[in-house]
Amino acid sequence: MEPSVGEESPRVLIVDDEKVIREILSDFLTMEGYVVRTVEDGAAALRELERRSYNLVISDLKMPGMGGLELLEKVSERGTNVLTVIMTGFGTVETAIEAMKKGAYDYILKPFKIEEVVHVVERGLDRQRLHAENIRLKEAVSLYKISEAIAQSLSLDTVLDLILESVLTEAQADVVTLLLKDPRTGQFRERTRRHGPHADNGFVGELNLPEILEQYRQDIPLLAHGLRALKFFDAPPEDKRLVSFCSIPLKVQDRVIGMMNAYSYTRGYKFSEGQRRMLSVLASRAAVSIENARLYEDLVSKNAELTGANRSLADNFRATIIGFAHALEEADKYTRGHSERVAFYSSLCARGLALDEPETERLVQAGLMHDIGKIGIRSEKLNKPGKLTPEEMSMFRTHPAKGKRILEPIPSMVDLIPGAWCHHENWDGSGYPRGLLGGNIPLLGRVVAIADCYDAMTSDRSYRKALPHDVAVAELERCAGAQFDPELVPMFTRVLEEHRVEAVTQGVATPR
Ligand SMILES: [Fe+2]
Repeated sequence: MEPSVGEESPRVLIVDDEKVIREILSDFLTMEGYVVRTVEDGAAALRELERRSYNLVISDLKMPGMGGLELLEKVSERGTNVLTVIMTGFGTVETAIEAMKKGAYDYILKPFKIEEVVHVVERGLDRQRLHAENIRLKEAVSLYKISEAIAQSLSLDTVLDLILESVLTEAQADVVTLLLKDPRTGQFRERTRRHGPHADNGFVGELNLPEILEQYRQDIPLLAHGLRALKFFDAPPEDKRLVSFCSIPLKVQDRVIGMMNAYSYTRGYKFSEGQRRMLSVLASRAAVSIENARLYEDLVSKNAELTGANRSLADNFRATIIGFAHALEEADKYTRGHSERVAFYSSLCARGLALDEPETERLVQAGLMHDIGKIGIRSEKLNKPGKLTPEEMSMFRTHPAKGKRILEPIPSMVDLIPGAWCHHENWDGSGYPRGLLGGNIPLLGRVVAIADCYDAMTSDRSYRKALPHDVAVAELERCAGAQFDPELVPMFTRVLEEHRVEAVTQGVATPR
């Protein structure tokens, strides 16, 4: 692991072909508390800069091989965050100024006083610290914004996209991958995302997961550059030379739920310790959000499963009951199709009453179920020609209450009870089973009563032939206010008439 910039003693690299100068500067700066290394020319300096990170380079201007100016150019080409101070002999101030134009931070004239050098180095490092603090502040602000955005999203896909996008921009990585641990298998392969122009498979290589997890376990920050990064790969990235690699665990409490990996293929661009720490902060927020999003998605899918199961349960019940009703009607040719027709006339009433969709559906279902209580009443006795005996009549009159009892235990059908229970109540209070009066009779009961009677009158029965439409309508009108709701009857006859006209002119399907 590299010592990080700004954390331990600042690192200074001295580049000079004169051994004496190298030794003097090294001794004094070491005494001042800096970590100092020395090399004898520009090429050696570049190699050293590849290997380790430095805060400051003090370079002679004229050296055999690569000189100070060329070194300066190469360093600024690589974009590394290192300050360069040029040393030059008396009389070449113009060259020193040229060096400043090329990006040198300062220059020192030879022969130098050692305090002067120390002063230049201190000033440079101060400026560098300030600069780094500024960057950290900016990073903190953008990190806060990203964290907020991630925390606000409950969709796993959105969370993952946000994380990848922000790691790419904040760390200026070429490739970023996210590996999530599959909670069932424990394998890291559930989701992998690659972004960026280098996002081909070959460029991410095959990770050495045990090695990486071991580092996580020991809490060792995983930031490695160049060849040193390769120990974290079973198969290194192909085609491209990996410059820098950073891997951050996604942890919830102490559980590793995934990993976030940043790759740099840009020459000279290494991730810094500061960036690694920034990614760690991001990762800890991301891990919690990923976990939340997963929990939420689990909840949603479980809920959907449950709703589906409930619905199919309710549908099953309904289908079973309708099946019973059909079986009941099948047994008696006179009532065949009666429930469906009552449902249809009820839907016409819903249209006349301008009911909304759920209320209309409720009315149709209530029509379908209204005689469900006849299950269990022996129909052959009730459909005989001629009048019912008082005993048969009282048995027949139990069917509304029976219907209520059948529907009661089924939550999705409780709403339909008024249709079954109250369709034999009369407006004037003379009906059964409870003798309810006028508006006390639920609307469902009042509507189904009219639909039921109209269909009964216009169908053949064992004891009489079907009555014509006009006669049935006249009968409904005659009984309005006594048996039926006086306001519903004219409404019903009006929509019925409209429907008959529609049926004739447009060929609309009609149950009659
Ligand atoms: Fe009935």
